Amino acid sequence: MCGIIGILGHHEAAPLLVEALKRLEYRGYDSAGIATVNKGRLDRRRAVGKLVNLSDLLVHEPLAGKAGIGHTRWATHGVATVRNAHPHKAGPVAVVHNGIIENFRELRAEIAEAGYAFESETDTETVALLAQLYMARGMTPVEAARETLGRLHGAFALCFLFDGEEDLMIAARKGSPLAIGHGDGEMFVGSDAIALAPLTDRITYLEEGDWAVVTRKGAQIYDAAGRLANRSETRIQIDATRVEKAGYKHFMAKEIAEQPVVLADALKHYLTADGKALHLPGVDFTGVDRLTLVACGTASYACHVAKYWFERLAGLPVDVDVASEFRYREPPLSPASWAVFVSQSGETADTLAALRYAQDKVARTLAVVNVPTSSIARESDLALPILAGVEIGVASTKAFTCQLLVLALLALKAGRDRGVLDDAALAGHLETLGTLPGLMNHTLGLSADITRVAEKLAEAQDILFLGRGPMFPLALEGALKLKEISYIHAEGYASGELKHGPIALIDQHVPVIVLAPRDGLFDKTVSNMQEVMARHGKVLLLSDAAGVAEAGQGCWKTLTLPEVAEPFAPILYAIPAQLLAYHTAIAKGTDVDQPRNLAKSVTVE
Ligand code: G6P
Repeated sequence: MCGIIGILGHHEAAPLLVEALKRLEYRGYDSAGIATVNKGRLDRRRAVGKLVNLSDLLVHEPLAGKAGIGHTRWATHGVATVRNAHPHKAGPVAVVHNGIIENFRELRAEIAEAGYAFESETDTETVALLAQLYMARGMTPVEAARETLGRLHGAFALCFLFDGEEDLMIAARKGSPLAIGHGDGEMFVGSDAIALAPLTDRITYLEEGDWAVVTRKGAQIYDAAGRLANRSETRIQIDATRVEKAGYKHFMAKEIAEQPVVLADALKHYLTADGKALHLPGVDFTGVDRLTLVACGTASYACHVAKYWFERLAGLPVDVDVASEFRYREPPLSPASWAVFVSQSGETADTLAALRYAQDKVARTLAVVNVPTSSIARESDLALPILAGVEIGVASTKAFTCQLLVLALLALKAGRDRGVLDDAALAGHLETLGTLPGLMNHTLGLSADITRVAEKLAEAQDILFLGRGPMFPLALEGALKLKEISYIHAEGYASGELKHGPIALIDQHVPVIVLAPRDGLFDKTVSNMQEVMARHGKVLLLSDAAGVAEAGQGCWKTLTLPEVAEPFAPILYAIPAQLLAYHTAIAKGTDVDQPRNLAKSVTVE
């Protein structure tokens, strides 16, 4: 959420800043801006909307200088206008910011009283003005930044640039991630390694509360107590930061298509060489009395699916919570329980706060994350990477199925550790999981059929998704995917719950997508489907060949998927759910990779 880049380089900064912002655009695209210092003078360019607008502006109004900062915005305070776009500038100070300054109203009053005027509605401008105020009182830029940082409450990552200072940036991190990049006589600051990748592979992650004085010679990092801190430098694997569409029209299409490969890789990572046993060192569920699974968005639906698996395969009670509720509800947690935090980015502010809440209350915290260097990974007792590779499309796809896979493996481990599954049962389940990459490949072949159905779905105003058992959370995920990228109103329901209200919505205009593999609950789901058809509802049935043969008659459309043994069908059925959303969005002409109002890596509450 909001991308930050800072460069003290040898070359013109503007094109490098724009290139880095391109890689950060998935974090927000309400506006973008850069500031540079050239011949001692601080100047900036800002444009509303996608980054291309800033690039166009820079063609007509170029910005010279080898020191600069840049920002891509996901609006929190103040609508998307040029005035509210970053960098914010006050006198000799320019600032880019990710996060929320919670005490900005109080600071604003103080600044106004000191006689300074505001030009934006943002919380960020307060930071620039405060630093200006301190400099006007005689402080150096470093002193003014330090003093300013001490006044701020909330979550933030900040990067300051100063008039007259071509070899100085101040970077600070509290609650939102920020990394320092080391070049050859050049230094960089960025929200993540992805942004810094073309500039350097040598990264130092700032820790919580750190702030850094950055010059071309290096970075002096201070901890929250103001002591000089020694933070290690790591080398980032370039593969882990590759951001390419590889011939696909959208990142989302590429990421959907990658699922068989990344799932196979993840399986290989977590199974022994012969594929017959689990390889999860350090994971032993003996004595664990309960699990709490916490996440946001798509990751939370992965947790809901996993609840069915842990209960059924391991007899382990599971609570699932969205992080934004969990963190403030202050739920009592059993000291013999484990808490698992699932997050693609590993930086989602609410999930991170939930982890911190649980840390001293449970026997163990586990992170199931895609970014192994993320805050959630680093602050958990144990981090299990999902190995999905970089995910750029705002709507999560391959991260979801890889999250499901890792959670399924954990459920199997729990089942074995708790004596619910014997070796033969475990081997059977592992065999099923081993078939999934192949079945996924086959399912991707449904794309043409799905395109035709999607053209019709694109005409709908409302769409319902139904599922039972572990397919119920998949119905929720299917609806989420559809609404976030096609903007069609969609809801997911447990099939059995339909008659308790939502059935009132059914008429011939409301497509109802039924996710029903021919499992033990198939007949029940089909009964609910019949209730829809009896009310002229348009049913799209997704099932295997046996299911379609048995219940397909009278449906508006059917899609036949390969058969997959219970209870892992949600991993496979995620693919048509994603493809339905993707092709419907294409038919509607929406921006698939950067849907309106959304952003990836949500680092504000
Ligand atoms: C945002 C994204 C979703 C994602 C959610 C949680 O809302 O748009 O796709 O599921 O954040 O993100 P996380 O990185 O914690 O999985």
